[in-house]
Parts: sequence; C-alpha cells; structure tokens
Amino acid sequence: MNSRHDVYLKEMGLGPRWRLRRAPLEDIPEVEREPDPVAVPPVVEAVPEPVRFSPPSAAIPIPPPTLESPSPAGLDWPALNAAIRACRACPLHKTRTQAVPGVGDMQAEWLFVGEAPGADEDVQGEPFVGQAGKLLDNMLAGIGLKRGEKVYIANVLKCRPPGNRNPEAGEVQCCEPFLVRQVELLQPKLIVALGKFAAQTLLGQEATIASLRGKVHQYRGIPLIVTYHPAYLLRNLPDKAKAWQDLCLAVKTRRALEEPA
Ligand code: URA
Repeated sequence: MNSRHDVYLKEMGLGPRWRLRRAPLEDIPEVEREPDPVAVPPVVEAVPEPVRFSPPSAAIPIPPPTLESPSPAGLDWPALNAAIRACRACPLHKTRTQAVPGVGDMQAEWLFVGEAPGADEDVQGEPFVGQAGKLLDNMLAGIGLKRGEKVYIANVLKCRPPGNRNPEAGEVQCCEPFLVRQVELLQPKLIVALGKFAAQTLLGQEATIASLRGKVHQYRGIPLIVTYHPAYLLRNLPDKAKAWQDLCLAVKTRRALEEPA
C-alpha cells in the first residue's frame, strides 16, 4: 500500500488507492492485484468543489438548434470533435473558454459520462481534470482501469455552464446529439453514468439516484450503471462505499458480457 502512487494520491488529499479484491480484467498486472483487507473503500478527504446535480428545468425555454450546430450524425471522430469545438448552438459558447469534447481510447469498452465541464476542464479542454477528476482516476484504478486505456470519458454538456450552475434543458437538447454520436462511434460495452444529472439525461427519467443505483439499465442497447458523481463523493464521504458497490456491479456486468452464453 506504500507505492509512490499511494503517496502521491495521499498528497493530493485523496487517500489510498481503491482496490478491487479480485482483478476485474485479466490483463491487470500482478502488482495491481493486492488484496484489500476491507470491503469498504478507504475514506478520502473532502475537497470543496461546486456540484451540479439538478435535472434540467422544464420551465426554461429551449433555444432551437441553429445553423451553427449542424447535426453530428455520420461524423467521424475528427469531424465530430471539430464540430463540438466549433458549436455555437446554445449561449454557453459565449462564456466558455473552449468546448470539451471528451478524452480517451476511441475503441473504449468503458464510457464514463459526467455532467458538464467545470472551471479546470474549461481551461484545459479535457473532462474531469480537477479534484473530482482525481477521484475519478482513483476510482478507475480501483477496478483496474486507466484514463485513456479502454476508457473514454465524456460529459453530457460539452461547455461549462457559467459559475458551474445546473445545465438547462435547452443546453442539454442542443448538446445531446454529440453524446449520441460519441456512443455510436465508441460502441462501448458498458456505460457508467456519473451522478444524477447524467443518469437522468441518459435514461430520460427524473428518478432519484438512490432508485437508479444497483440496477443494470440500458442506453441504446448498451448496459448502463448509475453511480454517484465524484464531486458529490468528495463532499459526502459515507456514500463512497455505495459508489464502490456500483463499480463492483459494473465490473460484474462487464465480466458477464465476456462469458459464453
Ligand atoms: N464534473 C463533471 O461532471 N464533468 C467534468 O468534466 C468535471 C466535473
């Protein structure tokens, strides 16, 4: 448990690495397979970060798609990313530093979907690079995954809502076709929705996260697991154990897909 990586994470205030007690994927190196003596993952220190969890409000008028937001249907990766970066379909383009298309392996088996870029992501152009992103990387490591290797990370919204306010319904409507195209291109084996907003948007339901967790849902024929948003977990430490259960369900679901019928 005292690897350089653990020390590094501790320095970041994220505590020891999460470890699955059994390697979830066959190609995890032996060194990563240390048994975890406790079933519940270690607690991390809270790092304040604005969290957005409300579903899009139906009361807000939805701006119609404009000529500046052509449909991404049929676009390949370079064209899709360019379309996202050039998008001016909703007012968020006026306040963003840059759009944040997504990051990772374009043949990813796992797709993790968050809500929208925050301040750090808006500056760096990559999803989940702030404190919540560090916890997400830690969560990925816990199940033998790594950003960029068989993993793609995207958000429902590609542009930061000013002040990290909740996404609005019109913004989601403008942006969702980009996520749909990302899923079509990736054809991931499994999707993990991070937080209530991503879960509600992908599943088209206004259900609570408590009622959505612990089940295998489907998004366009792809299994989808719901878990807490990492930023929420940074503020609600006891729920980290539940997020660990969700990740274990995700690994179990992914493994089951590999088993012969
Ligand atoms: N929160 C998100 O939902 N996505 C990010 O990329 C960063 C923080």
